[in-house]
Amino acid sequence: MNSKAQLQPVKHDKGAVGAAFSRAAQGYDSHAAFQRQVGERLLTLAGPQAIGRCLDLGCGSGYFSEQLHAQGHQIVALDLAMAMATATQQRCDAAKVVVADADALPMQDNTVDLAFSNLALQWSDNLQLALSQLKRVVKPGGRLLFSTLATGSLTELDQAWQQAHGRHHINRFLSPDAIRMQVAQAGFSPSQLMFETITLHYPSALAVMKALKGVGANHLNHGRAPGLTGKGTLQRLQRAYATQANSHGLLPLTYQVCFGTLTNDA
Ligand SMILES: C[S@@+](CC[C@H](N)C(=O)[O-])C[C@H]1O[C@@H](n2cnc3c(N)ncnc32)[C@H](O)[C@@H]1O
Repeated sequence: MNSKAQLQPVKHDKGAVGAAFSRAAQGYDSHAAFQRQVGERLLTLAGPQAIGRCLDLGCGSGYFSEQLHAQGHQIVALDLAMAMATATQQRCDAAKVVVADADALPMQDNTVDLAFSNLALQWSDNLQLALSQLKRVVKPGGRLLFSTLATGSLTELDQAWQQAHGRHHINRFLSPDAIRMQVAQAGFSPSQLMFETITLHYPSALAVMKALKGVGANHLNHGRAPGLTGKGTLQRLQRAYATQANSHGLLPLTYQVCFGTLTNDA
C-alpha cells in the first residue's frame, strides 16, 4: 500500500462483507480466541459500567452480548451479517437483535447507556461518521467502548503476499494518528485511546489464512487478483512467509489493536 492509497477512504462492498461473515458464523466461536482476548481486554481497561441499555455493535456470534446481558444490561445487538445476528439471537434470547450497517445506524438519539463494539469498526467505510452516530445514540454521560485495528496489523502476511505475487493482499487499516483525528472529529477525547501490539503464532501460512477465513475476515476491500489462490502462488506465499519463522518454526501474525474507552461528554 502506498501512502496515497492510505489516504483514500476505504469503501467496503457491504454485501460481500456480510456474506463472508455469514459463511463464517457457524464455526466462528472455534476460531475467535483472539477476538475474545481483545474484547475481554477492552472490558478490563474500561472498568465497571453503570448497568442499563447496551448496544453491541458488530455483535458477531453474540459472545459479548451474552456476557454483557449476564452483567445485567438490556442488550440491543446489531450486525451486518444475517447469520451472525441469528447466532446472537439463539445465544442470548433476551437481546433485541438488528441486522444493519454500522455506517447507517438505525437507532434513535440518546437511547443507550453503553455502546460496545469489539473488532467491528475496522469494517466501517467512515470511522468518524460511525463514531458520530454512536455519540448520537449514547446518552450524555454514557460510554462508548470499542476496539479496532490500526496500521501495523497483518504486516507479516502482507509482506509474504508481496513477495509471492508483488501485490498487497490484506485490508487497509487507518493509522493511529488518523484514528485519533477521527475520534476527535466525532466529538470524543482521543486521550481515551490506547494502542497495543498483539502477536499470534501459527504453524503455517495456510493456518494463518484458515484462521482469518474462520472468523470471516477474508473479504478484501481492494478486490481479488485473478489466479491469486492458484497452487503456484500459494506455494510462493508459504515459502515467503516461512522466512519469517521464529526459532520454534512458528509464523508471527501481528495485530495493532486500538482500544477506545470513551465518554459522551455531550
Ligand atoms: C471480527 S467479528 C467480531 C464479532 C464480535 N464483536 C466478537 O467480538 O466476537 C466482526 C463483526 O462485525 C460485523 N460487521 C462488519 N461490518 C459491519 C458493519 N458495517 N456494520 C455492522 N456490523 C459489521 C461482522 O459481520 C462481524 O460479525
